[in-house]
Amino acid sequence: EPRVFSGVQPTGNLHLGNYLGAVSRWVPLQDEMPSIFCVVDLHAITAGFPDPKELSAATREVTAAYIASGIDPAKSIIFNQSQVKEHAELAWIFNCVARMGWLNRMTQFKDKAGKNRENASVGLFAYPNLMAADILAYRATHVPVGDDQKQHLELTRDIAQKFNNDFAERIRELGIGVPNPTPSPELPDELYLPLTEPVIAGPATRVMSLRDGTKKMSKSDPSDLSRINLTDDADAISKKVKKAKTDPEPLPGEMDGLKDRPEADNLVGIYAALAGMAKEAVLAEYGGQPFSVFKPALAEIAVMRLAPIAGEMRRLMADPAEIDRVLKDGAERASAIAQPVLRDMRRIVGFLDVR
Ligand code: TYM
Repeated sequence: EPRVFSGVQPTGNLHLGNYLGAVSRWVPLQDEMPSIFCVVDLHAITAGFPDPKELSAATREVTAAYIASGIDPAKSIIFNQSQVKEHAELAWIFNCVARMGWLNRMTQFKDKAGKNRENASVGLFAYPNLMAADILAYRATHVPVGDDQKQHLELTRDIAQKFNNDFAERIRELGIGVPNPTPSPELPDELYLPLTEPVIAGPATRVMSLRDGTKKMSKSDPSDLSRINLTDDADAISKKVKKAKTDPEPLPGEMDGLKDRPEADNLVGIYAALAGMAKEAVLAEYGGQPFSVFKPALAEIAVMRLAPIAGEMRRLMADPAEIDRVLKDGAERASAIAQPVLRDMRRIVGFLDVR
């Protein structure tokens, strides 16, 4: 059965990249398929333990951002990862499925660990295994994310595929597999774990820094001018758009003209995503115009789209007990799905069940 799963780490402010690349894309999906949206607090400790009070506060803030962006907690499941123990349990099994060589190739690990790999936590190295566990504990089929998560989702498929292959006999014996939707000679006819589809689409799958069009917009950039935060007010948004780096040329009329103009390309992509347009349509409208015309239009649409979200987040955060109720209800509904999957996974592996 189709199911959506995705998540955001509660590490500091959500920014426009998280919103356009991920959260805003989840909203229409929740009407198409049962959906689960997780605040991945177990992942948030892999790059060093944040201040404990800040971690809890950020967990509530990300939850508020989901709801304020249009995720409906009555329909979709919203919860924080640490409250459903199946994630950590399945991640352990996957630690024994994934190969060191696979994880050694992960570009995000290389980026985050930097030069001093010996000093990176084991958790940071195993981060993609936990991500695979998040998805596969629900046997989710569709994972909407930004472009930077593509490699992690390929690893998730590799893990599912190796597990399905290594335990093909056992899965058939237990009669708990589902027919492989894409039969091939290399794959067993019955799979237990689905081969997940990444959903990476739209004009803003990779939003770049406003200060440097070759760098990804990120929570960890020391310059706050490099990103628009979901909690920024109208003045802050306008100021950041105004100060965004550009080149001196007017906007091109065609997509070709955006080549080798990373800053222009980025701002056009942001505008397109905010306006629900294709980049081509934005260029048809603004081609030939200077940034002194385009930037105020961009600031206006950014404020129009984002200010109501910031306002709704503030309103929700004034009542933390209500946020916690949403998370508690979500954790219970998530557990009800993950528990039977883990029961199956333990049987497949052969853990002796004595209780
Ligand atoms: P995180 O918190 O780093 O990012 C959350 C989501 O935001 C997207 N994103 C961007 N999209 C476009 N432009 C950007 N500049 C940009 N920066 C971030 C990310 O691609 C992501 O979709 N590992 C995940 C969290 C996670 C997860 C999962 C996701 C944990 N388990 C299971 C899906 C399924 C992450 O990158 O979080």
